[in-house]
Amino acid sequence: MAIEFARHIQSIPSYPVASGYDLGSDVAMLASNESPFGPLPEVIEAARRALSGANRYPDPSYSTLRTGLSARYDVPQNRIALGHGSCDILLAAGRALLEPGAEVVYAWPSFSEYPHLAPAAGAHAIEVPLDGDDRHDLDAMATEVTVATRLVLICNPNNPTSTAVPLEEVEAFLEKIPRHVCVVLDEAYCEFALTLGDPFASVELLRRWPNLVILRTFSKVYGLAGLRVGYALCGSEEFRNAVEQVRQPFYLTSAAQVAAAEALKHQDSVEDRVTRTIAARLGLEDGIRGLGLWLADSEANFVWIRLPDSEAAAESEAAIVASLKDNGVLVRAGASLGRIGCLRVTVGTPEENARFVQALSQAL
Ligand SMILES: Cc1ncc(COP(=O)(O)O)c(C=O)c1O
Repeated sequence: MAIEFARHIQSIPSYPVASGYDLGSDVAMLASNESPFGPLPEVIEAARRALSGANRYPDPSYSTLRTGLSARYDVPQNRIALGHGSCDILLAAGRALLEPGAEVVYAWPSFSEYPHLAPAAGAHAIEVPLDGDDRHDLDAMATEVTVATRLVLICNPNNPTSTAVPLEEVEAFLEKIPRHVCVVLDEAYCEFALTLGDPFASVELLRRWPNLVILRTFSKVYGLAGLRVGYALCGSEEFRNAVEQVRQPFYLTSAAQVAAAEALKHQDSVEDRVTRTIAARLGLEDGIRGLGLWLADSEANFVWIRLPDSEAAAESEAAIVASLKDNGVLVRAGASLGRIGCLRVTVGTPEENARFVQALSQAL
């Protein structure tokens, strides 16, 4: 007799994980918005030192990392949540806020993990279509907020479409939302977004909106995706306490904690990587436009392309992705991200980007 699982897990969508991690080194990994730059030597050394104490559980107060983040963003430690990747905090937010009868509002297409939250809690998801330029339609989202809404997610810049809405629009949106509704501003890619200003600009909003949570990660610009460290800067202590309550203890390994804390100290290198990524993105965009394709205005370390005849069936999109893979380039098909007829391509090194453009030209 088969094991009997809880009925609600049948409606939880599986996260579309990228393939290709087993393909060896001659592959351009442009499918998961990771950094092409490895961790800094000082970061690797800090993680190595932490491993010698791995017989002990990690510091459960995560004090080194919490202190570093608090000093950098001028947010008190009791309003900083940490997580095993920012996904961990996102899922904990779903568990802490949602229940049958409650609603979560987010744009679509957006980050593939959002559709997990409602079914996991027996709640209801309201997916609000992006506008014609593949940006969040915040006015339309505001009209979907009802007495049942517990959580609103804004992905800025948006994954997978790479577009961003200016902070003034986010502020105007927050004005319309009741203070008991939690708004998570998911800024996994904010460091790459020139129109959003520096990474401190949105943090200022926390002073005015205690219901706001800014979600960020060390997986992208800090190049630590393999260590899984995320954080949330919260408008109130209650959010941090609630997400602590629903999680296992010791969710951040010792090596991950010290590596992230060390990475924070090297902002010059972070800025240099942002500059190089944006320069590489411009080159990639030129190459793609040269093939006559439409691109969204990217504010991130990836681009979003509409394929010719984007009404075409998923099969032609899949054929292009397969052809790219045969040429050693991994990207994401729009169908797996909520929009058939598109591709999401991470900005790699200039060589990887040129390889992608060449392979795409061949595939088309
Ligand atoms: C918009 C967005 N939020 C959150 C995450 C999760 O990042 P992590 O769990 O690696 O911190 C991602 C990862 O791709 C993302 O694109």
